[in-house]
Amino acid sequence: MFSNDDLSSLRWDAVSGAVEIIDQTLLPHTLRWLHLDSLPAFCHAISHMQVRGAPLIGVTAAFGLAAAIAKNPDDDNVRAASATLLATRPTAVNLRWALEQVQSEVADMPPSQRARAAFNKAVQLRAQDIASCAQIGEYGLTLLRELSAGKTLNVMTHCNAGWLAAIQWGTALAPVYKAFAAGLPVHVWVSETRPRNQGMNLTAWELQRAGVPCTVVADNSCGQLMREGLVDCVIVGSDRTAANGDVCNKVGTYLKALAARDNDVPFYVALPESTIDWHCQSGEAIPIEERDALEVLSIAGVDASGQALEVNLASPGTRALNPAFDVTPAALVSGLITEHGVFQASKSGLGELSAQLLK
Ligand code: MRU
Repeated sequence: MFSNDDLSSLRWDAVSGAVEIIDQTLLPHTLRWLHLDSLPAFCHAISHMQVRGAPLIGVTAAFGLAAAIAKNPDDDNVRAASATLLATRPTAVNLRWALEQVQSEVADMPPSQRARAAFNKAVQLRAQDIASCAQIGEYGLTLLRELSAGKTLNVMTHCNAGWLAAIQWGTALAPVYKAFAAGLPVHVWVSETRPRNQGMNLTAWELQRAGVPCTVVADNSCGQLMREGLVDCVIVGSDRTAANGDVCNKVGTYLKALAARDNDVPFYVALPESTIDWHCQSGEAIPIEERDALEVLSIAGVDASGQALEVNLASPGTRALNPAFDVTPAALVSGLITEHGVFQASKSGLGELSAQLLK
């Protein structure tokens, strides 16, 4: 029997050790759990975006490494499996972070003890992510209360940084869920997030399931909504945040931050500590994943009978470029909402967080 994690993107079975994920490529039309039990299956799930979102990528990779160690716990295999998992997606730093956590857990152990220890570590990272996101929600809720002034609060978000992108709660959506639960009137503008439409396919699905009022808008309409005074704040997640507070997130985030600044709309980024790359001095050093041009040139959905299909949008031979992320300079960010509190997006702001962590 799986544990009772109904609203959870990855579940594990305490008796058999089986791991299942929601196949996010099928949402919002089909909710299907997928069993993962081998290193290739975990790698495929990450690289083909059956799981996606920085925190979930990290936790999935931890379970993937544990599966590889269960097959062969020797040093060489631990190293090789980590390298294979690390190569699945380049931008979300949670992937590297989680792999390092599992590797250092087993490093000084005799091989015979490694499988159990690696699995336990993955389970622990999963629980830690849930706790971190819940705490991000609490700090974000305080900000939303300050902004609400008794009227419906219009929060804009981009991509999916809800529980589908983490394990539970999410990062950017955690404050929204907490606000909704606390009875604060809240409405979410969900930008569709071309080319893969994580906003429309995942964020709107999540929010609707939870009963949170939301409206999907085309990515390009977000600036106009801000000009019309229809947005009280923007909250997005992050795939990697540099030590100077520059934020890398789904492509399109930067344009929202520019529009927010021009319209005096607060622009917050919600992220767990595991998304901060302390070795990365600025956003310029963050690797931006370039995905298949076909994602831009085509679109997937279902027809009137519910049959899945993918259609070409462009004429044959059309060239396209598909950078999956962008960097928002720290100066455009109103604050970083973490599980340890809200910090200024700057070297000194993150320095304060780092000092707090060392205490
Ligand atoms: O390409 P994806 O879907 O993995 O990108 C996800 C995002 O950019 C999210 O906004 C980010 O990971 C923050 S998730 C908590």
